Amino acid sequence: MRRAAIKGVGKFLPPDVLTNADLEKMVDTSDEWITTRTGIKQRHMMKDPDKATTYMATQAAKNLIENTGVDPSSIDLIITGTVTPDHNFPDTSNGVAHAIGATNAFGFDVNAACSGFLFSLATAASYIQSGMYNRVVVIGSDTMSSIIDYTDRTTCILFGDAAAAVLLEADEDGHGIIDQVLKGDGSGKEYLNLKLGGSLHPITAENLNDSGRYIFQDGRPVFKRAVLGMSSTIKQLMERNNLRPEDVNWVVPHQANMRIIQSVSDQLDFPPEKVMVTIENYGNTTAATIPLCLNDYESKLNKGDNIILTAFGGGFTWGSIYLKWAY
Ligand code: COA
Repeated sequence: MRRAAIKGVGKFLPPDVLTNADLEKMVDTSDEWITTRTGIKQRHMMKDPDKATTYMATQAAKNLIENTGVDPSSIDLIITGTVTPDHNFPDTSNGVAHAIGATNAFGFDVNAACSGFLFSLATAASYIQSGMYNRVVVIGSDTMSSIIDYTDRTTCILFGDAAAAVLLEADEDGHGIIDQVLKGDGSGKEYLNLKLGGSLHPITAENLNDSGRYIFQDGRPVFKRAVLGMSSTIKQLMERNNLRPEDVNWVVPHQANMRIIQSVSDQLDFPPEKVMVTIENYGNTTAATIPLCLNDYESKLNKGDNIILTAFGGGFTWGSIYLKWAY
């Protein structure tokens, strides 16, 4: 059976780092509060005003090309999950294709907030499984610092900037993406949103300084729905693929809050050593968290490992993907 398998990974982290100690000087917070409530110690920040999401996505794609040795002209398609594109249009993926010399590729972006990588991966996999394309680059890239109010202690401690990418190719040996459960609920928009800057509320001289220019989050309901959304879709996947907790080698959860990750793992009886965690170093990098985890844990992965990716984000959007690692 033809499946879509991850055959390589790449990443980019901007060099500047914002630590909890830095945040203590900016807002009324403490390292102790941030660490115990979220698990985050530091986040990377894109401070160069001439560089943002497309640049980071390009660097992650270049790193992927270096790691895999793939010829950019052989790439058929580039899909980028992002909610912080450089511009409303043109999109990120076309900019990346141009910058890396993927002259035969087309591309588009997927807007699904923290589920952006998961939804992009599922879309890319369908193109490969159908036989339409053979080689797709899937990227998660977000410059969250561009939409954060650094005077709002409830959100500025959470997010960071990063990009990461995977190479997806056809596999006929039983590896690759096996199943997926993806979900959405538009009523979630009241709890997590960016009000201004779109077609409904464009930025004007009058609203220029409104808080609606930045991310709004009502943390508690989002927390509860995130735990429920991720654990219920993992359960569905495990049931219909006859997987017991001991059959799963790795769980790769979206990195929004260490307590969310722990609640999901506890509910499903996954021991901590099977759960990928990078939140301490990067914070919530939105669409980049899952491919960043795959980068950082790549050396621990073995061919044939059963892996479950799971995410929850603004929209609401959420879901899980079950795959067998291919290398
Ligand atoms: N430093 C110190 N105190 C803070 C603070 C900070 N950075 N942020 C909030 N607080 C305060 C609040 O003002 C509140 O004070 P009060 O009790 O006097 O009103 C108190 O801490 C508790 O706030 P609350 O929002 O209830 O905390 P919480 O335990 O729910 O943690 C989040 C807040 C944001 C960390 C948590 O709700 C969360 O992670 N939510 C989900 C995020 C998420 O998954 N997003 C996913 C989409 S990507």
